[in-house]
Amino acid sequence: MAPDRAIVISPSTIANVGPGFDVFGIALNEPCDRIEVRRSSEPGVRVESITGAGSFAVTLSSTRNTAAVAASKVLGTAKADFGLSMRIDKGVRPASGMGSSGASAAGGAYAANLLLDEPLDMNQLICCASFGEEASSGSRHADNAAPALMGGFTIIRSYEPMDVVRVQPPKNLGIVASLPEFAVPTREARKKVPQKVPMRDVITQVGHASSLVAGMCSGDIDLISRSIRDVIVEPARAPLIPFLKEAKETALRAGASASFLGGSGPCIAAFYDLDRTDGLQIAQALQVFFEERGMKCLYWVTTWGEGCRQVRE
Ligand code: HSE
Repeated sequence: MAPDRAIVISPSTIANVGPGFDVFGIALNEPCDRIEVRRSSEPGVRVESITGAGSFAVTLSSTRNTAAVAASKVLGTAKADFGLSMRIDKGVRPASGMGSSGASAAGGAYAANLLLDEPLDMNQLICCASFGEEASSGSRHADNAAPALMGGFTIIRSYEPMDVVRVQPPKNLGIVASLPEFAVPTREARKKVPQKVPMRDVITQVGHASSLVAGMCSGDIDLISRSIRDVIVEPARAPLIPFLKEAKETALRAGASASFLGGSGPCIAAFYDLDRTDGLQIAQALQVFFEERGMKCLYWVTTWGEGCRQVRE
């Protein structure tokens, strides 16, 4: 029987992962959003409260809040004869490059589906969550919502129709997410994306993207790492991210096997081999790097994780 109330944990994610703009994403083990929903006899979705990281910057409006829009799409798709209220506790602040809006959109969609006894499949949920992303960034990208829902590493094969492939990353893939204190709204960062691309850059990008997937499938962290190169979008966005090149070099010097811009930034993400490297050293090197330049910097030393799940409290 469908529950009247559900609590969902939805993870942060890193989108793009080098060459896979709007296509690749990976779920982090932490931080996570927590979303509590309750069935209501009133139609529609009502956001009761938002707490946690950066919550002051997140709207309660049911037509603009990413989780509410995603949940509302699920209710509409399933022709639900009820509404819901939700409480959101944010694990990571918006405009971080760590899939803050994607975590909320995915969690909202997943939680609404639980109240309906799960009529929608994963691709439908990702599609509903992408409308939540659109409410926040103006674009229906799903490369954060997909890994937040499915966990692991995800590839958006197609947006129309939505078709997402999940790949299990290597178990020894460590991830550092380093977050300097400035914000980069995705809406602004997307204005930098080039609309025309030279064929030689397309060839480089496709080669790297394909090899990255091969590395994920075969558990080859070295292949994954040398495939993390974006010659199209990251360079165009670099002016928005002070010290991007130097920060990535700092991570590599501290033992990371690859470092790249997380989503649209400003997160600096690093991959490393859990069996060979101490992720804390990478994270602390990045923290010192940004502090020396007058910026506070949060970090998470983590690994990839699972997607949305229900918790019983
Ligand atoms: N693919 C999206 C972008 C992710 O880079 O704009 C946003 O986090």
